Amino acid sequence: MSSLYDPLTMGKLQLKNRVFMAPLTRNRARPDGVPGSMAAVYYSQRASAGLIVTEATQISPMGKGYVNTPGIHTDEQVAEWKKIVAAVHQAGGRIFLQLWHVGRISHSSLLPGNVAPLAPSAIRAKSQTVTASGFVDVSTPRAMTATDILQTIGDFRKAAANAHLAGFDGVEIHAANGYLIDQFLQSKSNARTDDYGGTTAKRVRFLREVVEAVLDVWEPTRVGVRISPGGTFNDMDDEDPEQTFSQVVDMLNGFRLGYLHVVEAAPEETPAREQLTTLFKYLRGAWKGIYIVNGGYDAARGELAVSSGDADAVAYGRLFLANPDLPKRLSHRGPLNAPDPKTFYGGTAAGYIDYPDWSAHV
Ligand code: PHB
Repeated sequence: MSSLYDPLTMGKLQLKNRVFMAPLTRNRARPDGVPGSMAAVYYSQRASAGLIVTEATQISPMGKGYVNTPGIHTDEQVAEWKKIVAAVHQAGGRIFLQLWHVGRISHSSLLPGNVAPLAPSAIRAKSQTVTASGFVDVSTPRAMTATDILQTIGDFRKAAANAHLAGFDGVEIHAANGYLIDQFLQSKSNARTDDYGGTTAKRVRFLREVVEAVLDVWEPTRVGVRISPGGTFNDMDDEDPEQTFSQVVDMLNGFRLGYLHVVEAAPEETPAREQLTTLFKYLRGAWKGIYIVNGGYDAARGELAVSSGDADAVAYGRLFLANPDLPKRLSHRGPLNAPDPKTFYGGTAAGYIDYPDWSAHV
């Protein structure tokens, strides 16, 4: 029986505990997608995590959907990420980069030449994003051609290679929360009639090809995939989540990846939706590797998830945002700093690198 605070072996990586830092959008990158100058401090403050997963990071200019999010597609971006990774390693941490393409969750003003966002189908999401001028409805996307699909898979491969160059310990493929890969997976956003839509197997194909591209660059145990089965965030839905996500898991099992990361509840859906409990249990049983859960966990629920075998690790978002030394605080039931939503998305050092360690209190 394992504890949340026990080490975890992932391929050749030794992770010091199972308290992971979940990917968190912070909107403090430069307009050109170079991570901000405070990011190295922010991430290295959190190096006591068993594993840090970075904020979602664009694989290409067309992958961008929000103002001031970082990318991993230019030399300057890679050079800055290199400094961040070095700072985390210096502090004894491990860090994976999250590879992101937003698909239809974007606005033309954020995209090169103000073009329409790309998506499996030209179906506009009932969702909003944040541009330089604030909250706006997302734009109507253009359905990707076969050439767009090939190009985008190539962009994932190139971004994965860039993450390798920057020195990351691995990468997480963002296939959750209604962004591009999830838009292919779930039926509400995929009305294609070619090899990438129509049946569950065809909807799963884009993810498979992205994984294959990333595995051209990375050893399988250095690659994780994040999914949100049955998730409705960003106007998502599926006609049969059990069938769709069991096929996703079966397909991914064949690659012997580092981990599967399951979002059980989006922030506004915390705690996990009861009706999906059976699906999550099924996926946990079906998955042959390391299984990470996320979505509103506290110390007690996280400890129980690992000790009961329902998960191998727990990714904490808001709690890690507000508590740089979260593993220590959870394991000792120390006091927790409260996260301040006003400084989640964008801003200065306040609410970013100034949350105190517990030791600063005592
Ligand atoms: C966001 O920027 O709001 C965001 C990004 C990635 C997610 C979820 C939300 O997976």
